[in-house]
Amino acid sequence: MDRKLVGKVALVTGGASGIGRATAIEFARRGAAVVVADADSTGGKDTAAYIETHCDARATFVEVDVTDAESVEAMIRSTVERFGALDMAFNNAGVPDRAASLHVSTQENWDRVMSVNLKGVWHCMKAELDQMLAAGKGAIVNNASRSGLVGVPSDGVYGAAKHGVVGLTKAAAIEFAPRGIRVNAVCPGLVETALTRARFGEELAARAKLANPLGRMAQPEEIASTVVWLCSDAASFVVGVALPVDGGATAR
Ligand SMILES: NC(=O)c1ccc[n+]([C@@H]2O[C@H](COP(=O)([O-])OP(=O)(O)OC[C@H]3O[C@@H](n4cnc5c(N)ncnc54)[C@H](O)[C@@H]3O)[C@@H](O)[C@H]2O)c1
Repeated sequence: MDRKLVGKVALVTGGASGIGRATAIEFARRGAAVVVADADSTGGKDTAAYIETHCDARATFVEVDVTDAESVEAMIRSTVERFGALDMAFNNAGVPDRAASLHVSTQENWDRVMSVNLKGVWHCMKAELDQMLAAGKGAIVNNASRSGLVGVPSDGVYGAAKHGVVGLTKAAAIEFAPRGIRVNAVCPGLVETALTRARFGEELAARAKLANPLGRMAQPEEIASTVVWLCSDAASFVVGVALPVDGGATAR
């Protein structure tokens, strides 16, 4: 196991669960100090405690609501106070679409999905970029989705938010690459997490078979390894990509 991230500081939003938890653990296994940020303090503290016990790396939990700009700014201040820097950030906190179909989608669903999945990413990028611009370096990865690249039925509002995340990623990538900051996105297909279990319930196993040419869901660790690679110097020339990690779903 290489420990090339020793001395670096990583921030993961939505680190209490699923893809965020797996990514926080993967950053730590590579040696980074990790800030696990989430609205769920029980799960977030558990991820940080797991890292400190099993990964030979430092970790701390910060409670955050990514829909609230002041809460996000406080998260970045806590990161720098605790570990002295912010080198890598994974903007991952998200919620599923609750609508059965676009035409019956409610205002409440729109506001919740847009607020967490799009405005939340924008809040985080703003605060992270302020910090990284002062340092003259950094790497940001946003968690979009396959629904950020192609149309997915019954995921209209979620897909609009995720297409927005891809747009934010590309614009920021171009604007900030000349100033030493790489910005990219991952676009996962179906991943086995609390989010997909809540969204698809008993349909999940059947969906997994049809989701992609591999005929299965991803495990969160399969997204985590891609995110950590994108944040590392191994991806030093990768800028502004929205990278499908979807078992080939968007290739067909
Ligand atoms: N699971 C999938 O199939 C899949 C596919 C593509 C993209 N994604 C994206 O991956 C990301 C993580 O999803 P997951 O599947 O790991 O889900 P998850 O439910 O396991 O984790 C999401 C985390 O985000 C946190 N969160 C929600 N709202 C928040 C807020 N306002 N402030 C701070 N934290 C908040 C939750 O508490 C939770 O810990 C999401 O952005 C999701 O859209 C998931």
